[in-house]
Amino acid sequence: MAIDYRTDYQAPPLDFALLAENPVEQFLSWFQEAETAGLPEPNAMTVATVSSDGEPSARMLLLKSADSRGFTFYTNYGSAKASDLDSTSRASLVFFWQPMHRQVRVNGAVTRVPREESAEYFATRPRDAQIGAWASRQSSVLGSREQLEQQVAAIEARFAGREIAVPDYWGGYRLVPDRVEFWQGQPSRLHDRALYVVEHGMWTKARLSP
Ligand SMILES: Cc1cc2nc3c(=O)[nH]c(=O)nc-3n(C[C@H](O)[C@H](O)[C@H](O)COP(=O)(O)O)c2cc1C
Repeated sequence: MAIDYRTDYQAPPLDFALLAENPVEQFLSWFQEAETAGLPEPNAMTVATVSSDGEPSARMLLLKSADSRGFTFYTNYGSAKASDLDSTSRASLVFFWQPMHRQVRVNGAVTRVPREESAEYFATRPRDAQIGAWASRQSSVLGSREQLEQQVAAIEARFAGREIAVPDYWGGYRLVPDRVEFWQGQPSRLHDRALYVVEHGMWTKARLSP
């Protein structure tokens, strides 16, 4: 089957003079615009990792915070992605905000967030999500859906009437960016691209060819 969509991207061009000095600030400004525009789950992002033997892998995750410390997301520390992140300490994030014809790519070094911070965030999650985190050995093979449901029932029984603490195999990762690219779709495929690169703590910006 041939796949043939011919979107001609239309949007105001990227005004380099208006770009923030710091890419996290620029990200937050675009993120707020995506929220204001009512985009569903603007915090959904592709997270690409690579294993110690060079096998790439990408999947969607939800961004939970972005600030001067970096980009934070939560997952199972026993998962395939965690194994990649723990062995290579690198990841690449991609956001695509289609109605705005915008893409953001972020590369950087990744570390686990401190235990207390993961526990604090876990405590804010709905109880069902907390039970799900306990019940799932993410990325491992399951015999059946029933097996998962039995695991959920066992966790519900174990914590009945009690608060649910964060499992030691669940928590956050934080990516500290060293390369961030903002892409603004433009007519005739002549898109605008702004690349931020950090060197000795200083960010520089360059315009890339589309
Ligand atoms: C929109 C969306 C958001 C998701 N958010 C998360 C998330 O925040 N954390 C997570 O562990 N998995 C999340 N998932 C599931 C992952 O894509 C993936 O299936 C899972 O983390 C296992 O990945 P792995 O086997 O590569 O480790 C999300 C999936 C989708 C489609």
